[in-house]
Amino acid sequence: MRSLVSRAKSVYDKKGAKHLFYRGLQFTKRRFYEHIVWGIFPKKKTLRTIASSRLLTSFYFLLKGTFYREQRAVLCGAAEYNEAEEQREAPRHRIIRSTHRIEKGLSMPEDKRRPVFAERYIRDLVDDLRAAWEPDQGNEQLQWAVDVLSEYFERVERTPIISAAEDNFKSFLSGVRYEPQDKVPFPRSEINQAAVSPEAMRQLAQKRTSTRWFQQRDVPRDLIDESLKVAMQSPSACNRQSYEFRFFDDPELIEEISSLAIGADGYNDNIPCLAVIVGKQRAYFNVRDKHVIYIDASLAAMAFQFSLETHGLASCCINWPAIPKNERQISKKLNLNCDEKVIMLMAIGYPDPNGMIPYSKKKPVDLVRSFNEV
Ligand SMILES: Cc1cc2nc3c(=O)[nH]c(=O)nc-3n(C[C@H](O)[C@H](O)[C@H](O)COP(=O)(O)O)c2cc1C
Repeated sequence: MRSLVSRAKSVYDKKGAKHLFYRGLQFTKRRFYEHIVWGIFPKKKTLRTIASSRLLTSFYFLLKGTFYREQRAVLCGAAEYNEAEEQREAPRHRIIRSTHRIEKGLSMPEDKRRPVFAERYIRDLVDDLRAAWEPDQGNEQLQWAVDVLSEYFERVERTPIISAAEDNFKSFLSGVRYEPQDKVPFPRSEINQAAVSPEAMRQLAQKRTSTRWFQQRDVPRDLIDESLKVAMQSPSACNRQSYEFRFFDDPELIEEISSLAIGADGYNDNIPCLAVIVGKQRAYFNVRDKHVIYIDASLAAMAFQFSLETHGLASCCINWPAIPKNERQISKKLNLNCDEKVIMLMAIGYPDPNGMIPYSKKKPVDLVRSFNEV
């Protein structure tokens, strides 16, 4: 009882009466479920019964509202995708996806490649490209699409649809200033042998440890950019890179934002730089891809952390809890669109050499690996 009172007092001192009231409500709700609801309906059995029925499962989560924000984000994302295509707005996820699909076709061995491919979307791709091209801009990613299309029309067999798309493409090229850059599929042997030895990679992986205590030094923004360039080499579904890294190095903002995540309570006042990694469902038009923003963003996050280490910087992932109130607060604070979901937060800084690091012993390989097991 005494520990409860002292915990309440510390919440009150740190975050005020409103926060204490909200935490109190949550505590009471948890107790109510633990002692009353689960007392009458034993938890394990009840959850299994609910899980065995599609209707009960849907109803259970409808009542709890657990997946509401995910569902809303997926729907908003599909709407945004279509609106952006109609209004021909950047970034052009449809161009990226179609160009990627053509590159995959061009990368097939000759004897496996179909003589006619991409016929279903080639017309849209050329139209999209024409609309997206900004005459006075760098058009960096679009140059790739132009190069790939040039290569495609050289290789593909003509059909009426493909010939019409080619005419359209040629008339587009004749109206813009563009030097071909050869951003097209290339043999793997042309990649320089990476200088990273297996031993260097192992050492880097071991060096990266979740670090929560930092020197009070600014994190140079150019090192963030350098690490992001590495992060953005990570694989992403159809190369769509459906994420954004939002950085904060203002101490007040860092404390305010990181305190919404709970998991950094206790050390968030010493974080020199905070990343909020946001996934964007608008990169995907189909509900089947609802998980992809989490995968794209997390793969990039891992590479980002490794790259930070090579610059002498350390980091720690901070869980983003799917608590409706916190989701609402962060959406408002960061002005997130309805298709945008926070994937995780990350603390970044130069490590305090005297700060302690949990040992975090990993599982043995054979616990997580199997071959041909069905
Ligand atoms: C998705 C995810 C969420 C995490 N959330 C938190 C968190 O909220 N607070 C924290 O201090 N560490 C957090 N961590 C760091 C883990 O505790 C840490 O990765 C784990 O204990 C293994 O330690 P290591 O990273 O040093 O190998 C998180 C890590 C991941 C991948």
